[in-house]
Amino acid sequence: MRKKLVAGNWKMHGNLNENDALLSALVPGISALDNKTGYAVCVPYPYLATVQAKLQNANIKWGAQNVSQHEKGAYTGEVSADMLNDFGCSYVIVGHSERRMLYGESNQAVAEKYLAAQKHGLVPILCVGETLEQRDSDTTEQVIDEQLKAILTLAGVDSMRNAVIAYEPVWAIGTGKTATPQQAQDIHRFIRQGIAKQNSELAADVTILYGGSVKASNAEELFAMPDIDGGLIGGASLVADDFIAICKAAHS
Ligand code: PGA
Repeated sequence: MRKKLVAGNWKMHGNLNENDALLSALVPGISALDNKTGYAVCVPYPYLATVQAKLQNANIKWGAQNVSQHEKGAYTGEVSADMLNDFGCSYVIVGHSERRMLYGESNQAVAEKYLAAQKHGLVPILCVGETLEQRDSDTTEQVIDEQLKAILTLAGVDSMRNAVIAYEPVWAIGTGKTATPQQAQDIHRFIRQGIAKQNSELAADVTILYGGSVKASNAEELFAMPDIDGGLIGGASLVADDFIAICKAAHS
């Protein structure tokens, strides 16, 4: 049985005081929920140490939003998977559309980051998804196929045992425009079937999250779809009550 997961993506938000207030509310709120679902927050690098200290004994895991594909060396400004391990990270987001679009991360670079994360025991949350233009020109499946192919070619299908996939249609991120549960389900199914072509048993076990304007008001219907195993939450993960409500929706 695959496990559900709700992960917050704080993006470039927060500061020491705000993070402390947010986590002080999340810890008791989420400790009241069952542990059949996993919970996590992916935070900016400078806050990993304080987040680690704060979540040490909580049922919320933590991680980062990006990782270098390199082990170490002359890569100014980069952070390696090994460094993330120093702060007890469980997860790292790779290939978020903002990184693909704003920082030019190619499918190949994303695959290398995915592999680097796994090599150091981190679970990559691999983001895939199409732009509005791609959806309108009916190339959604082709785009996602290529994004996944880069991973499967470099890391192999077995790597999916220790990965989470997040389907995030770019047109739904931060726009307030959510994919309908059926639109999301169709792509989640497509992703699972793609993996099943190589290993059906493993495909049934891969956690596939939906991301893109998930809110307390729409989480339940999205998470009720058969191939949607939770969410990657941006804006709503910064508001304690909203994030807790979304976490609740994943196990109701
Ligand atoms: P959003 O962001 O929930 O604010 O749309 C989701 C994401 O980018 O991971």
